[in-house]
Amino acid sequence: MPSFDQASLHAGIADPEMDSMRILSETALRFPDALSFSSGAPYDGNHDLSGLTFYIDRYIKHLRDRGVPEQRITRLLFQYGPVNGLIQDEVALMLKRDEQIDVPVEAIMITHGFQEAALIALRGLFASPDDVLLAVSPAYVGIRGAARMLDIPVRGILEGPDGLDPQAVAEAARAVRAEGKRAAALYLVPDFNNPSGTVLPRAARERLLEVAAEEDFVILEDNPYGLFAREGETQPTLKALDTDGRVIYLGSFAKSAFPGARLGYLVAEQEVVDASGTVRTLAQTLSKAKAMFTVGSSTLSQAVIGGYLVEHDHDLRSATRELAAVYLERLDATLAALGEHFPAGADHGVSWNTPRGGFFLTLKVPFTADLAAMERSAREYGVSWAPMSMFYLEGGGDREIRLGFSNLAPEAIREGIARLARFIDATPRDIPDVSEGQA
Ligand SMILES: Cc1ncc(COP(=O)(O)O)c(C=O)c1O
Repeated sequence: MPSFDQASLHAGIADPEMDSMRILSETALRFPDALSFSSGAPYDGNHDLSGLTFYIDRYIKHLRDRGVPEQRITRLLFQYGPVNGLIQDEVALMLKRDEQIDVPVEAIMITHGFQEAALIALRGLFASPDDVLLAVSPAYVGIRGAARMLDIPVRGILEGPDGLDPQAVAEAARAVRAEGKRAAALYLVPDFNNPSGTVLPRAARERLLEVAAEEDFVILEDNPYGLFAREGETQPTLKALDTDGRVIYLGSFAKSAFPGARLGYLVAEQEVVDASGTVRTLAQTLSKAKAMFTVGSSTLSQAVIGGYLVEHDHDLRSATRELAAVYLERLDATLAALGEHFPAGADHGVSWNTPRGGFFLTLKVPFTADLAAMERSAREYGVSWAPMSMFYLEGGGDREIRLGFSNLAPEAIREGIARLARFIDATPRDIPDVSEGQA
């Protein structure tokens, strides 16, 4: 049998950093006795197995009600489906109701989650080795991994407490140009960034769209957490503010429905003209990539999510109100427990940010919070978390922890933070070195 040296495989496989997605999703399984703040797994206490068949039946009924012949419905669900999907109509209605995003169905492609939408958008937009992806840093590991798998260089732009500074984005785009390269796109999560929980203020959203036009790049907007804001605090998405076709919107049903469906979507209404002069949307044009990556998204998953959308009148904002309250209660429980264990004025060396929603917050600690520290915390103190350094694109975050509170009940959160406090208390402080100070 041939054996391979891992280092001889593609950089996306050879690079140990590319293991972060697996590490984050498997930490809870590796340490079953630990309370897990390590992932952003959604709350799953409201799932009911009968829901799966209910929503499929609901979608079939919906097609029948619309007069689709029985034989066609059978075909649609059992056969290879259209490459760009079956349920674009339902997603278009949802986008209009939930986000005031008004796009034709031709602008929508149904994908295997955000992850495939990102791969497809990147594959289509990045044509030259000199095309660079600008990205918020710290960033969701899925975007760095998708770019790496496609050999696309990424330039991280450090965010502040209010997310990305549009001026810093403009400067990064110009710096890339000064190197003879091109910033082809910018990736960000304007609503409750993973891992930091930041939200981009309205004025910065508007300015960022201007910068995208001035510097001529497109924005890849990733928005899995926007539904989980406090009442009255919802911001318009960049896509809803986009009058110039600058934004490609990458959606996911992982948090608004459930991640097991592995379903998401790409919204790209920009026009593409082919050699014969035919004009199609970018989403239609990118179906070549979709066909070659996965042929089409699972018709069964689309039927479940299609039924879910129809059943909830395409209004996921209302359908997830109770869920949003669950997450906000968990956020508040985490903040309260931190306040109790690390009181202001005491010499514990610990501080944290206070996001207004989402699934995550960042804790600063007085020692190196790497994977080895996390494993010790999980094994000896019964609490796991994610090292923030995994998310920084240009280094940094060595003494920071991401706490994901979405999948722990408030009592478990209180116990988990008590355990974390014992771990932090028992861990010797590091002396910051010079490189850390500069990061
Ligand atoms: C920032 C971000 N984008 C997207 C997703 C969801 O991706 P997918 O639809 O591939 O599950 C997540 C989930 O953790 C996320 O945190």
